[in-house]
Amino acid sequence: MKMNRRFLLTILLLLLLPVIGRAQTRESLSLTPQMGWSSWNNFQGNINEDIIKSIADAMVASGLKDAGYTYINIDDCWHGKRDADGFIQADPKHFPHGIKALADYVHSRGLKLGIYSDAGSETCAGRPGSLGHEYQDALQYARWGIDYLKYDWCNTTNVNAQGAYQLMRDAIQAAGRPIFFSMCEWGDNHPWRWAKGIGDSWRIGPDIWCSFDSTHVFPTYIQCSIIDCINRNDSLRSYAGPGHWNDPDMLEVGNGLSVNQDRAHFTMWCMMASPLILGNDVRNMSDETKAILTNRDLIAIDQDKLGVQGLRFLIREGLEYWFKPLSNGDWAMTIFNPTRQSLSCSLNWQDFNLTDKEVSKRSTAFDQHVYKIKNLWTGRMEGKTTLKSKIERKVSVPAQDVITYRLIKQ
Ligand code: GLA
Repeated sequence: MKMNRRFLLTILLLLLLPVIGRAQTRESLSLTPQMGWSSWNNFQGNINEDIIKSIADAMVASGLKDAGYTYINIDDCWHGKRDADGFIQADPKHFPHGIKALADYVHSRGLKLGIYSDAGSETCAGRPGSLGHEYQDALQYARWGIDYLKYDWCNTTNVNAQGAYQLMRDAIQAAGRPIFFSMCEWGDNHPWRWAKGIGDSWRIGPDIWCSFDSTHVFPTYIQCSIIDCINRNDSLRSYAGPGHWNDPDMLEVGNGLSVNQDRAHFTMWCMMASPLILGNDVRNMSDETKAILTNRDLIAIDQDKLGVQGLRFLIREGLEYWFKPLSNGDWAMTIFNPTRQSLSCSLNWQDFNLTDKEVSKRSTAFDQHVYKIKNLWTGRMEGKTTLKSKIERKVSVPAQDVITYRLIKQ
């Protein structure tokens, strides 16, 4: 009897092993927010295999790969037709060597390749969607060596969002290759409430566009400014964490904002533990853009393994004070000036005694701990916090810019 039970348990374990193994593989793809590049913000549908290859080359040559940017994501408009058996093919004009050859090239540069599809009948740009072809598409991506799938939400009348994303998650799992699953459902069905365990990240709102503070309003939809994205994301911090990230959309750094705005945009994405998916032409970027995108101290804030989305603790006289707890007991702190004029403030550390009750349960406790202050945009050490209540320094934050510190616990 005993033997029998042990035998049955062993069989059960053996049967379950592949499932457990696969689940672990998927989760481990997104222990920190994804980093990479996508074709959409700069190229929209005007893409081809030479562009993607030259971007991969530039990611390596510019040092972006070494800074942690891994995925090269082909967004909408790579698709051709389905073949006689229903398998999707690449557009033969713009991708004449096919996606497998492109994946091989990207992999040979030490990078990973991402692709794009849609849960509906057609993508947003009118290419074939995956509706009714989910398992076949996932299988095709796995055969090609794809590492990342962004799955959009156009043309989905009468499709149930949770069901559609679950179906593609299962299809990816069945295809047997670890593929990062980036849900792009624009927050319409509040995915943060149900998508943990389905997607590695989910979009929280409409598309970003390259404006710091103006919403772009069209008759049937809107595009979000940098500030819109931040304000939408702020209330969702309790839903994010390792394996499941809020995605306020791809970066517009290097696409025409001022250097100050670019710095603020990048900083706030790092403070919010957001995916860092570049949206600029990395083959031609200014030294300032490159310096922002490769700031290792900022990237470390985004990629911190505690995986806590930062919180907006205080808004005072136009300035926002953001805090993000870090795994080693340090805190990141950003003073964000969203306004169009330069603003100054006086800092008294005792104004910032806070406990993150919602997520990490950590406290800054400036009355109990001294922190060394590192300014992450100048790279300079700027003394220490003080245990007593006193105005310790006056700082000026330029219009639509930030001051960011790493507060290093002593
Ligand atoms: C939607 C997505 C964008 C982009 C386009 C492509 O608008 O939200 O990020 O992928 O489709 O058509």
